[in-house]
Amino acid sequence: MQKKFPTRVIIDTDPGADDALAILLALASPELEVVGLTTVCGNVPVGQATKNLFRILGLKPTPPGLLVGQGAARPLEEDLITALQVHGSDGFGELDRLVTTSGASRYPPARLPSMLATAQEVWNDCVRRYPDEITLITLGPLTNLALGLKVNPLTVQKFHSVIVMGGAIGVPGNIAPAAEFNIYVDPHAAHRVFQASLPLTLVPLDVTTRVGVTRDILATWATESRDPLGRIVADLTDKACGFAEDCEGHGLFYFHDPLAVLAAINPALMTLEPYHVSVETAGQVSRGITIADRRMRRPEQKAVPNMSVAVDVDVDRAMNLLRTRLCPWS
Ligand code: RIB
Ligand code: CA
Repeated sequence: MQKKFPTRVIIDTDPGADDALAILLALASPELEVVGLTTVCGNVPVGQATKNLFRILGLKPTPPGLLVGQGAARPLEEDLITALQVHGSDGFGELDRLVTTSGASRYPPARLPSMLATAQEVWNDCVRRYPDEITLITLGPLTNLALGLKVNPLTVQKFHSVIVMGGAIGVPGNIAPAAEFNIYVDPHAAHRVFQASLPLTLVPLDVTTRVGVTRDILATWATESRDPLGRIVADLTDKACGFAEDCEGHGLFYFHDPLAVLAAINPALMTLEPYHVSVETAGQVSRGITIADRRMRRPEQKAVPNMSVAVDVDVDRAMNLLRTRLCPWS
């Protein structure tokens, strides 16, 4: 199927601060047409994820015909583990603490529709409209995609490609010594997805932790943005920067989810390698670890690759594109 421009995308998300920046990036990028947005439990419970998504959508005009749906409330088998300690109690840096000079909330609360579709219904409708065209970008645990493989296989098989923010191949984990959060939260979902012969591109911590900025740089981007909305990059990330400073010690806010969107905007920013990647689902210490078969062997002597893995990124071009799209300053 000849690729068409703009690239039509569905974003599956657990907003979270970096998810919000990824969604704003996608909406601000002419290379993409966001046709669907679906929420999944992860950084925050799924109800909060949906509120956060509508709160972001309320800040700027949204594409006509955009479909929004709510997905899974819990992982396939595990209890939900959130990341409120990183993103703040609302997942968005506790935005309600910010008010205007008149005392009104700087970011109006979410306005949810009376009826809300499910994530699977949104995926069905989008694929019915655009068969074999859509790129699904997952920014949270893979629960919705794993459920889709079971209850909606004909829809899922009609995604043109699937870009997954997740995993840690040659670098340490974040939520656990060797596991990345999205995979760790629902390792059984990741296992099903990795085994499903989908056209996967993995954007792991190996590249996302190469693109990080300090609180001060985010503050500069925010204050120098000619778009007033640009200040949100500082407001959303305040708690996450505090976690990076107080807990991780490096003080860097990583653009994990925006990197997955950048992979759709401009694939040339990433260097991809084909690997077979497995997920540990049963380990106590190793739950959620992602193991790529990187042995020096003849291809026929090792596991057949099940995905393309981003092993490098053009940091300068990625950083410049992020700032230009999120906080245009020139
Ligand atoms: O490990 C980083 C990922 O986990 C990002 O998607 C972040 O939003 C959290 O979901
Ligand atoms: Ca996320």
